[in-house]
Amino acid sequence: MTFSITELIERKRDGDALSADEISWIISEYTADRLPDYQMSALLMAIMFVGLDAGELDAWADAMLYSGDVLDFSHVAAPKVDKHSTGGVGDKVSIPLAPMVTACGVAIPMMSGRGLGHTGGTLDKLETIPGFRTALDPPEFTRLLESTGLVLAGQSETLVPADRRIYLLRDSSGTVPSIPLISSSIMSKKLAEGLDGLVLDVKVGSGAFMKNLDDAKVLAETMVGIGTARGTSVTAVLTDMSQPLGRAVGNANEMVESIEVLHGGGPADLVEVTYRLGEEMLLMGGITDERAEARRRLEAVVSSGAAFEKLVEVVEAQGGDPAVLHDPSLFPTAANEHVVTAGAPGFVAAADALDIGVGALRLGAGREAKSDVIDPGVGITVEVNVGDEVSAGDALARIAWNDDAALAATLPLVERAFSITDGPVSAPPMILGEVP
Ligand code: URA
Repeated sequence: MTFSITELIERKRDGDALSADEISWIISEYTADRLPDYQMSALLMAIMFVGLDAGELDAWADAMLYSGDVLDFSHVAAPKVDKHSTGGVGDKVSIPLAPMVTACGVAIPMMSGRGLGHTGGTLDKLETIPGFRTALDPPEFTRLLESTGLVLAGQSETLVPADRRIYLLRDSSGTVPSIPLISSSIMSKKLAEGLDGLVLDVKVGSGAFMKNLDDAKVLAETMVGIGTARGTSVTAVLTDMSQPLGRAVGNANEMVESIEVLHGGGPADLVEVTYRLGEEMLLMGGITDERAEARRRLEAVVSSGAAFEKLVEVVEAQGGDPAVLHDPSLFPTAANEHVVTAGAPGFVAAADALDIGVGALRLGAGREAKSDVIDPGVGITVEVNVGDEVSAGDALARIAWNDDAALAATLPLVERAFSITDGPVSAPPMILGEVP
């Protein structure tokens, strides 16, 4: 079947719904390089403004999902459950969470992304471990999942090729923040992993795609709907991203903080989100049907050292040198430190996630374009949370830097991220909701 792309763009622009055949044709033609970028961009912009109705969303998600391979791990006896975050600042949850959950009996074929813009990426953090390989071919990925129960890798080239092309185009055409496009992009990649269940961490606040709770709920409901309609259990937890998660924002420093959590320490907000998502994964995997028991099991694998040992095993299996895990002072660090201090006494009213995330990006911890190379040792340590009382001169953040120009670009952002008020401020809750 063939269609006129100009006519389809015009119909979408005017508010018409496209048929499943038309959507399937658009995605397969674009993926095969038979539609030009300018026409696909125009269609994506029409979708940004008009949206997709339920039938169109269904067709769009299916066309994306079946644009490449769909994995099948049914021969792996353990329940296969993954976790995905919609992205934030200081969000290193996957790194302690995945070994904790696998140590409790859940297999996790985790495919993560790289940082882009102000949001960090799990792969960049993991690659600060010397030798650690995240580019695995499908046979090796399967073999490692069978032997260790946990694989921490990049997205396979053969999974959802349509998303690779469309996401790049969205990034350069101002069409990323569309709920149907984000939901189908994320869910097609997760459903292609052959999962029994998926736990979504939908971030809400200045450092997230979704700046307010209402939009985040719609995104969560849309993603849960796409998964459950295709027979995969999906739960979404909505969590705060108005300030960075944990203290460390960067790459190597986020690994160090993740290891602290695996040893039973770490900042309270990071620990709260990690355990909450872990409980959801154990419940979804059928390891227990009691939330309190799920929590107890997660605590047990941390205090016995089994969760930390699982990370060591996975790092060795993927070619990494585990010496840094045993002695985190071996992770790369920056040559210099600049401390941002409070100018007056009071209470922290804001530690803005977006400003701190963009600050870390300018420092070299992230990438503006896909081809940028990150500096693994630079980063920001946020010393205070919203609600904390400070005295004049107290450290608000420590900037670990290597390059004068990068520090000069970062400093104003980190300074303006903090606001201090006279009266007490209550700390925002970390867990803001759940879907369903
Ligand atoms: N992450 C994705 O994978 N896709 C989107 O569209 C947005 C975030």
